[in-house]
Amino acid sequence: MGRIITFGTFDVFHVGHVNILKRAAELGEHLIVGVSSDELNYSKKNRYPIYSQSDRTTIISSLKFVNEVFIEESLEKKIEYIKEHKADILVMGDDWEGRFDWVKSACEVIYLPRTPSISTTEIIEIVKTI
Ligand code: CTP
Repeated sequence: MGRIITFGTFDVFHVGHVNILKRAAELGEHLIVGVSSDELNYSKKNRYPIYSQSDRTTIISSLKFVNEVFIEESLEKKIEYIKEHKADILVMGDDWEGRFDWVKSACEVIYLPRTPSISTTEIIEIVKTI
């Protein structure tokens, strides 16, 4: 049991992102991160991320505890990505608690506590008021 996978937008990279990726990495030997595409974010939130998928991928790839990064093009393809990357465990923040239980046929699912008081949305809102 050594290959961990996680998914996210990781826009406007912050310490909550570092914490979850570091803790996810500690659960195994190999951390794979699916960075959601610009189009996927647009279809979900009706706006593009501040940082492009290319920049978000560059940032995540540069972390010493991340071994592999790919672009997540579709939310429905979770099981395909898990199989393709031979992941043993899917890790997500507990804001997603229960919402990934449907992939339990493909791998173990672990929700880790979110870092309190920080999110990309909150940073954007604060910056708007300055
Ligand atoms: N995450 C976390 N602690 C935070 C913020 C995010 O553990 N304070 C985790 C999420 O649970 C997820 C991953 O980081 O597993 C990527 O989350 P993402 O949605 O990209 O970050 P948010 O800051 O939550 O962005 P937004 O406000 O746009 O939802």
